[in-house]
Amino acid sequence: MNVFPIILAAGQGTRMHSQLPKVLHRIGGKPMLQRVIDACSTLATDKLAVVYGHGGEQVKNTIQDEHIRWILQAEQLGTGHAVAQANDVINDEDAVVIAYGDVPLIRSETLKALLARLNEADLCVLTTYLDDPFGYGRIVRNDQGQIVRIVEEKDADDATRQIKEGNTGFIAARGNDLKRWLKQLSPENAQGEYYLTDCIALAVEEGGNVQAVVCNNPLEVQGVNNRLQQAELERAYQRQQVEALMLAGASIADPARVDIRGSVTIGQDVSIDINTVLVGEVVLGDNVVIDSSCVITNSQIGAGTHIKPHSVIESAVIKAACEIGPFARIRPGAVLEDGAKVGNFVEIKKSTIGKGSKISHLSYIGDTTMGADVNIGAGTITCNYDGANKFETYIGDGVFVGSSTQLVAPVSIEKNTTIGAGSTITRDTPPGVLTLARAKQVTIKGWVRPVKQSGKKTKEETTDNKNEKK
Ligand code: UD1
Ligand code: CA
Repeated sequence: MNVFPIILAAGQGTRMHSQLPKVLHRIGGKPMLQRVIDACSTLATDKLAVVYGHGGEQVKNTIQDEHIRWILQAEQLGTGHAVAQANDVINDEDAVVIAYGDVPLIRSETLKALLARLNEADLCVLTTYLDDPFGYGRIVRNDQGQIVRIVEEKDADDATRQIKEGNTGFIAARGNDLKRWLKQLSPENAQGEYYLTDCIALAVEEGGNVQAVVCNNPLEVQGVNNRLQQAELERAYQRQQVEALMLAGASIADPARVDIRGSVTIGQDVSIDINTVLVGEVVLGDNVVIDSSCVITNSQIGAGTHIKPHSVIESAVIKAACEIGPFARIRPGAVLEDGAKVGNFVEIKKSTIGKGSKISHLSYIGDTTMGADVNIGAGTITCNYDGANKFETYIGDGVFVGSSTQLVAPVSIEKNTTIGAGSTITRDTPPGVLTLARAKQVTIKGWVRPVKQSGKKTKEETTDNKNEKK
């Protein structure tokens, strides 16, 4: 039996009040639709369809996946109508699983349980018990407890509205059955729509075996219709991620104040203070300490490295025992070898910083290869850009660069060179000696400090030039 997931994602999502199609809104940094696709992709399947409509091109451009068959539902006439658009690609013997693109926390285990039940049934519905089932289709069961139909909120009478068991929207059925039921749907209901949920009553009328699989975690099957619900699910998702990290051995100062928008791999005894955001693929080695308010994106942090508050690290490789920040910015292509130190207000881009090298304050290092045990003084800038092209800087082992130096690339500072503070270095420097490039210091004897002249109002009238002539 071939498994065929069909994900409904054509609805507008009016209640989001957004230009972005609802299913592209994100949970944990990933579009909701992508989460549902990922969960469905774990079912042994080689085809998967997404029914799209509203914001169609935008949805297709954002979710780029060759395996998806995109099915257009030009007019949104209901969930049953949406599935019917896929009729031509549903084979009779397919085990079809219908999923909703706005239910982002669905897990593949739950979908597998729903699908497995199809071995003993003709139609399987995933349901859940809700404290407040408002808005959900209600599961109506007979005296024997068998499910007989689903009634939508807007079509329900008071007694039906009391039912706490809600329809999650996820169903499984064989292709030939589903196509037969879809043909019989009619829009005679409160919303004038073709309801997929009417398939249940049709199956029961035929004497089919309809079974409910109950999902015990309502959050997993909760749909997002507005931003409040989106935020609720975001928190639930974050809690899951952080719990997993803690159970894997991380110390998290406050589980409610760390956000993970991707996947994080940790060693032992990692510790993370509040307000840190981890994005994409992040790897944290043993004993890594992350202080408060850091943002780390697609990076590897080596064992024993300490990242101090307010540091931003993106697409970088930081090796062991480094010290970073506070207020450091490590940009894509940066590699810090063991024991490197990057201090406050330092920006590093596409550069290698050798073992034990230090850039402690207020510097920009770009397109640079730096050896080991280099010391870069405060306010040093690698001038890597002439307005049109980028150039590289080489700094050998053991170099000492005095404060407030500009290294105008392309330039090479050989091993063990000392550069005097305040130098503008435009040519390669020889190894092991002192190089400086700055104006000589002069002292003007007998110079008199300007004094304010009585009756004069503006500064401009007493210039430095006048004073020097005295
Ligand atoms: C639907 C169910 C309801 C269930 C609830 C769970 C029906 C009739 N109702 O109601 O029983 O409790 O979900 O969240 O099925 N869609 C389309 N094309 C359409 C209409 C909808 O693709 O013409 C898609 C939407 O993009 C969305 C999903 O189907 O992903 C559900 O649609 P929505 O309008 O949110 O249905 P509900 O009213 O929430
Ligand atoms: Ca919904």
